[in-house]
Amino acid sequence: MDSLGTMIMPPAGSTYAGDVDALFYFIFYVGALIFALVTFGSIFFAIRYRRRGKRELTSSLAHNTKLELTWTIIPTLLVLVVFLWGFKGYLHMRVIPKDAMEIKVTGQKWFWSFDYAEGVTSVGELVVPVHTPVKLLLSSQDVIHSFFVPAFRAKMDALPNRYTTLWFEAIETGVFDVYCAEYCGKGHSEMRGTVRVLEVPEFTQWLEANTKLGEGLTLEEFGEQLYKKKGCATCHSIDGSANTGPTFKKAFGHEAKLNDGSSVLVDENYIRESILRPLAKVVAGYQPVMPTFQGILKDREIDALVAYLKSLSE
Ligand code: CUA
Repeated sequence: MDSLGTMIMPPAGSTYAGDVDALFYFIFYVGALIFALVTFGSIFFAIRYRRRGKRELTSSLAHNTKLELTWTIIPTLLVLVVFLWGFKGYLHMRVIPKDAMEIKVTGQKWFWSFDYAEGVTSVGELVVPVHTPVKLLLSSQDVIHSFFVPAFRAKMDALPNRYTTLWFEAIETGVFDVYCAEYCGKGHSEMRGTVRVLEVPEFTQWLEANTKLGEGLTLEEFGEQLYKKKGCATCHSIDGSANTGPTFKKAFGHEAKLNDGSSVLVDENYIRESILRPLAKVVAGYQPVMPTFQGILKDREIDALVAYLKSLSE
């Protein structure tokens, strides 16, 4: 069971993943058994009771109460077992423990961001403590996304204008994949992330370090840190090469040609606008695919990024 399991699914990483797998394999093996009985039974009967001569007549046997009761009662019991087992598992997955730690999850084209009660925002990476119930409060900035952690057997839609919830308790430390499981447009397949499960003390340290993010740094150094941490680096290079987005090298203080033919001076206001309303003025030759960072970056963080871009033009 385990060898087949790891081939199809990643190792179970949450308290309820084992229940999900057990029920899945029960249905799988019962299904395989019934498939074999029906298929090989049909073939066997077709050969065993084939018509052997022109004069052979079909048997007049039309009814067998015992047999009919058997093939009614056994499948009924199987279906009831699957229902009760599944319902028990469903309750376990849906009833959120009272002491669960809450994290806000936001899906948008095309990344996930995670907000902690302490004021920390993490982009693309959900960091949680091990052996601790975690409640996720999900929503979306634009279209329907679906937050999916295969190792936890946990999946829930993230909808615009409505909250949904999901909870899990990780049973081991490590890094697990996050996918978007609802087709949400061009960047859907890129909408990946990770869950990093840490020991409780390490998690507390991580949270503290991120609460104090930028402390003791110059605005420029803070900007560089944000550039790496908040996902800018995925699309914007700092070495002058073009990527999904224009490079940050020598961008500040220069004119940029826009895709509507006009041009704009890359100054503090243009950078701020491009972070908050990225589609307002798109540089010529690039697709309008940048997500908004409205609500994700605080004012001080935008200031820091502006300072960092300035430093790249010196
Ligand atoms: Cu978001 Cu698919």
